[in-house]
Amino acid sequence: MSTPFRSGAFRLSPSDYRALTDTARQNPEAYWQTQGTRLEWVNAPSSAQDTGNGWFADGTLNASVNCLDRHLETRGDQTALIWRAEEADHVVRLTYRDLHARVCQMANVLRAHGISRGDRVAIHLPTVLEGVIGMLACARLGAIHVVLFGGFSPEAIADRLADSGTALVITANVGRRGAKRIPFKTTMDSALSLRPETLFVRSVLVVSVTDEPVPMQAGRDEMLTPLLEKAEASCPAETMASTDPLFLLYTSGSTGKPKGIVHGTGGYLTWASYTHELVFDHQPGDVFWCTADIGWITGHSYVVYGPLSNGGTILLFEGMPSHPGPGRWWEVIQSHKVTTFYTSPTAIRALMREGNELPRQYDLTSLRVLGTVGEPISQEAWSWFDDVIGGGRCAFVDTWWQTESGGIMISPVPGAVKEKPASATLPLPGVHPVLLDDKGQVLDGATEGVLCLDGSWPGRALTIWNDDTLFQTTYLRPYPGHYFTGDGARRDEDGYYWITGRVDDVINVSGHRIGSAEIEDALAAEHAIVESAAIGIPHDLKGQGIVVYAVARDPSHPELEMLAVRAITAKVGRYAAPEKVYIVPDLPKTRSGKNVRRLMRKIACGETDGLGDLSTLADPEIVDVLIRIVQG
Ligand code: PRX
Repeated sequence: MSTPFRSGAFRLSPSDYRALTDTARQNPEAYWQTQGTRLEWVNAPSSAQDTGNGWFADGTLNASVNCLDRHLETRGDQTALIWRAEEADHVVRLTYRDLHARVCQMANVLRAHGISRGDRVAIHLPTVLEGVIGMLACARLGAIHVVLFGGFSPEAIADRLADSGTALVITANVGRRGAKRIPFKTTMDSALSLRPETLFVRSVLVVSVTDEPVPMQAGRDEMLTPLLEKAEASCPAETMASTDPLFLLYTSGSTGKPKGIVHGTGGYLTWASYTHELVFDHQPGDVFWCTADIGWITGHSYVVYGPLSNGGTILLFEGMPSHPGPGRWWEVIQSHKVTTFYTSPTAIRALMREGNELPRQYDLTSLRVLGTVGEPISQEAWSWFDDVIGGGRCAFVDTWWQTESGGIMISPVPGAVKEKPASATLPLPGVHPVLLDDKGQVLDGATEGVLCLDGSWPGRALTIWNDDTLFQTTYLRPYPGHYFTGDGARRDEDGYYWITGRVDDVINVSGHRIGSAEIEDALAAEHAIVESAAIGIPHDLKGQGIVVYAVARDPSHPELEMLAVRAITAKVGRYAAPEKVYIVPDLPKTRSGKNVRRLMRKIACGETDGLGDLSTLADPEIVDVLIRIVQG
């Protein structure tokens, strides 16, 4: 396989990169102190290290000032945000001055509704301007935003509102997905009515995306636009401690309960800014398009905080890649002269199916840097993206990171690190990955193992909301002295990392993390099902698909599969719908009662030769029964 490497007008050369890596290793405190100066502080921090409770502990700042106010003098009239609606002729451009005014208006509306520092505000929106504006308005007041993905079910929303103790919700009447309408407000209404005794939501502010009316509850719900129009366009910014939470973002792990990952202010913002500049080779004039929804960490760090803290221009697109036709994204790149395009392998796989001719009808020569995130990318998809979309000219960054890391950790740096197709390549300067064996021994050289991170970095999550013990047991205790990522990786003879996927029970469906335990908990609430196990298997389009084995109370019940699917989509959301539900008489278990997922995975994938030693199973005969059921 060739090893593309494009040098040219990039910020860093290979020797600059080596120098940064060496400085970060030899004198980390000085290195991070320097990186901290990329922010505007009210009180600059006197030290740059992780105190155990966050970075830059005695520094104070405001994140919205860093994304807006400090750019007003130098680039107030520069476009900060291009919002492209579903319709090609509907574009809104906001300069930094406009965005600042809109954020202040939103902050004043929130303040008039009693929101102040430390309060939690949920944002549940399609890709409309109010999402970015709402996040920055919370940051301005020191309120903690909790962005909820639009695909969550009412149950999933209710759990997150309750856990976070959210006081105010910003939602929309509907979202537009092509010709379809997504019922945001009625979904939120259902969530709010599920377990009202666990909730603290006082106000629901509703953005009108279309003019479709929705039910409004008097005393709780208000349309947002008229409130914004009346609000003052200036608003003082709260001075926050660097270690104060900026946001909570829920993600999945090995337990059924989603974890509210808490990110701090100064450390997180330093990391978003540092990595956005380094990895995307940020330069004046760039138009940065990250296709992620703001409901995920990629949307937080690379739609909002990274590019705006660096004074960039971001593009938000309301529509989908496939509507009204599969050339839509290429048309958006052409129309808005996008320079930097960051998306998911899932999207690339889908677009690749449309062939090479379609993208070639568009002028994509504005592109300079292509990026992917969220799941492993195959060499075939990598090469297609590089060649057909990037014309073989662009730097390509396959970026590995996770919600908990706050920003990119392992990735090529354009012009400085030679790419290898489908490898996340090398750690960024200041990041120290290690590979461990099952016993926790550090492995050297070319090898494969569990991926951990040594030392801390400014973007590291502070804790899990309401559950610091879970933070310790999930990340810090499994391999004492190292931070456990949950991923496995291979390191080659050049020290390059190749991510092999999760080593825990987390399934990655189209780049969305779903815990096996979340699916199994959803099924435990369905009376017709006694017991279940969810596993991930390879899927051509989604990366991984979910397969469920379920034991029924009454196997003759005619609609068990449908009941199971309904239980999962109701508790988690449609994005967690399984590919297949197998109703089985029992699950393969060890004598101590543990489900043997490895076997279930192999059977679901049809890999029934060499299933290994079955003598440790409580009932080895169940294996043949499962094979017969799966092979139908
Ligand atoms: O398994 C890894 C996979 O996505 C997980 C993190 O998911 P989440 O917290 O939702 O964040 C996604 C966006 C950062 C990781 O533990 N992952 C992420 N990036 C890559 C990846 N797997 C392979 N290659 C990547 N570039």
